[in-house]
Amino acid sequence: MNNFNASEYNEKVMKGHFRKIYPVIAGQIIERTGISSGKCIDLGGGPGMLGISLASISDLQVTIVDPDAECVRLALENSKEQGVQDRVNAVQAPAESIPFDDDSIDLVASRGSIFFWKDQPKGLSEVYRVLRPGGWAYIGGGFGTLALLQEVQAMRADDPDWDRQRRERMSKNPPEHYETILTQLGIDGIVDKSEAGTWIVFRKPLES
Ligand SMILES: C[S@@+](CC[C@H](N)C(=O)[O-])C[C@H]1O[C@@H](n2cnc3c(N)ncnc32)[C@H](O)[C@@H]1O
Repeated sequence: MNNFNASEYNEKVMKGHFRKIYPVIAGQIIERTGISSGKCIDLGGGPGMLGISLASISDLQVTIVDPDAECVRLALENSKEQGVQDRVNAVQAPAESIPFDDDSIDLVASRGSIFFWKDQPKGLSEVYRVLRPGGWAYIGGGFGTLALLQEVQAMRADDPDWDRQRRERMSKNPPEHYETILTQLGIDGIVDKSEAGTWIVFRKPLES
């Protein structure tokens, strides 16, 4: 990612105008997948608020995985601040090389990161590899609800570039783009698109 400043993202974005979206998205992920215990990865989790929100409303043991060393440090700091340090860890690695065993993870969640992966097919095949049979992936980008997106847009009204870049990322990564990758990888999944976001959702079959 060019020009990514983890500390600034942590303070101004994650704990600033994006603050409300993580608990909402975490709730949606648990409701959709039915996974509320076991091992979870927040992939490209940055300073960790989605993973921390998932841990806060479930019994999940969460690892935040991000290639940026400063994000890993901030994720650990944030998990302490939120009182979930016993169930949240963080490791430095990219999606293209997830440092977990095959068939070992119950849930892989990822928000706002796949657009920046150098090799999306490799990253998604890594997600599939680490999922246990019956495990779920919920990967994409969004704001939880249209109302929350509009709230964020209002807060970013002073920076028209922000919405332009967001729309550009969405038009470069339409649902068909992800559907093609899933088909190429032989993964049976769906791509949900709504005003509030685009999410790739799949479950590794129980018998493969
Ligand atoms: C816009 S931030 C999103 C952070 C967080 N998931 C959120 O929703 O606020 C994008 C994150 O993707 C990470 N990233 C960039 N390239 C990546 C890759 N190849 N694999 C995994 N994560 C990556 C960045 O380090 C950064 O933390």
